[in-house]
Amino acid sequence: MTPLTAEDSCALVIFGASGDLTKRKLVPALWQMFQGRVLPDPFVVIGVSRSEMTNEEFRSRMREAVAEFARVQPASQKVWDRFAQTLLYYSGDPANPALYPGLVEYLARVEQERGTGGNRLFYCATPPSLYPPLVRRLGEAGLNRPPEGSGGVVRIIIEKPFGRDLASARALNQVVASVFSEEQVYRIDHYLGKETVQNVLVFRWANGIFEPLWNRNHVDHVQITVGETIGVEARGAYYEESGALRDMIQNHILQLLCLVAMEPPVTFDADPVRDEKTKVMRAIRPIAPAEVDRVAVRGQYGPGFVAGRRAVGYREEKGVSAESITDTYAALRLEVDNWRWAGVPFFLRTGKRLAKRTSEIAVQFKPTPHLVFQRNPEILAEPNLLVLRIQPDEGMSLSFAAKLPGPDLKIKPVEMDFNYGQAFGGEPPEAYERLLLDAMKGDATLYARGEWVDMAWELLAPVLDAWAVGDATKFPNYEAGTWGPAEAERLIEESGRRWRRP
Ligand SMILES: NC(=O)c1ccc[n+]([C@@H]2O[C@H](COP(=O)([O-])OP(=O)(O)OC[C@H]3O[C@@H](n4cnc5c(N)ncnc54)[C@H](OP(=O)(O)O)[C@@H]3O)[C@@H](O)[C@H]2O)c1
Repeated sequence: MTPLTAEDSCALVIFGASGDLTKRKLVPALWQMFQGRVLPDPFVVIGVSRSEMTNEEFRSRMREAVAEFARVQPASQKVWDRFAQTLLYYSGDPANPALYPGLVEYLARVEQERGTGGNRLFYCATPPSLYPPLVRRLGEAGLNRPPEGSGGVVRIIIEKPFGRDLASARALNQVVASVFSEEQVYRIDHYLGKETVQNVLVFRWANGIFEPLWNRNHVDHVQITVGETIGVEARGAYYEESGALRDMIQNHILQLLCLVAMEPPVTFDADPVRDEKTKVMRAIRPIAPAEVDRVAVRGQYGPGFVAGRRAVGYREEKGVSAESITDTYAALRLEVDNWRWAGVPFFLRTGKRLAKRTSEIAVQFKPTPHLVFQRNPEILAEPNLLVLRIQPDEGMSLSFAAKLPGPDLKIKPVEMDFNYGQAFGGEPPEAYERLLLDAMKGDATLYARGEWVDMAWELLAPVLDAWAVGDATKFPNYEAGTWGPAEAERLIEESGRRWRRP
């Protein structure tokens, strides 16, 4: 990572600093950036939330968080202490206007003492219901602009979920737009910060040999899978309001689809990249309400076994209704109606308590146009398959047919495999490190634009509407530890294709 310079110095104000995201992701990422000498100097974090805490208490909580969640541990107490000096805590309710006069004053004092200049980065890590009031309060307090005469910049990072449907996302976009200009707004989708996700673009456009094949002439279909083996853990109440379609497809999986389907941008800068992604969203065929059952399948896990251990059904999880119809599995068939992709279906699926933890993009190429070996039915060549493994086992593989050694002509698929760990050694940086770094230097390439989020909700609205109701007796419809409901097989098999078993 290219280190940030003093010009990028900033005060990072995290709202919701006593919460899970701050300890699990944000502070461990900042610590790793600090120890990798990537953070700007000077730099300061002001954690804000209602819980009463002193700076020392906040620092000691964050020390524990780093011990638990960071990739690299402090080499000595002295090194940690230097980082800990950047962590400050200010207690108050971000939804309450009474917080702000004091916060404005405190922020100005800290900036003066620490010499961070006028750059400010706000991070909304509170429950999402707080985003609209929080954004409004920032505007009312004048915190949407840099301090007078400072020449600084103010930016705001907004965590997912950005709305829970089209109406709420539009309402949030409106509030945000009434306070900040679009260039100031960074809507996070942490998938875009993953090395393997960025590599989709490098793979496509830094290699001349694949792009000529990347279209309807050569690609039969694309499968994007995000499978989890875990259930909802302690987040049952949250998940009841969300579900697989909202939690995974509306953001991460549609972003992956865009990266696979987009045209090459003129440059790898925020606007050209995001313009191309918007064009993909525009090209996806809208789902007619009457078509929902044909192109979308939902599921919910019942009890079963995952990795040999007994797992309870979704309805038995804490915080979940005994009659819940929330989707813990969702599969979709989408068509991208443009010159490049006409007739190439994109199959998307995600689920909890599936047979394997995996995120991958599989590009299935067409069979060879003429079967030279067809006279012998034993000699069947499988079409080429390219699999981009997002996580775990980060890497990619290309399968092709090879002659099985021996006197007979037999063909077997073999794989060329690239593994990140083996090729580059070590673990790649966490997505949040890259995303925080980009926001500090003002690069929004890996963040979602307002219109993209809006279009993603708009696309899924008919499915969300149809799935808001349902016959509770039809769920659960898949066993924990399997690959999802039988209807999902039908979704793909009726087109003569099959889901992969990653
Ligand atoms: N956790 C993750 O790994 C993760 C991953 C991706 C996205 N996110 C998103 O990030 C955001 C934060 O997630 P989280 O898991 O950190 O949430 P969290 O632990 O439930 O809450 C974050 C903070 O918000 C404050 N808060 C809660 N209710 C409040 C209220 N009614 N008024 C004012 N403050 C309130 C709490 O602090 P006080 O009680 O001290 O005020 C808490 O520290 C959410 O939008 C979530 O969807 C989280």
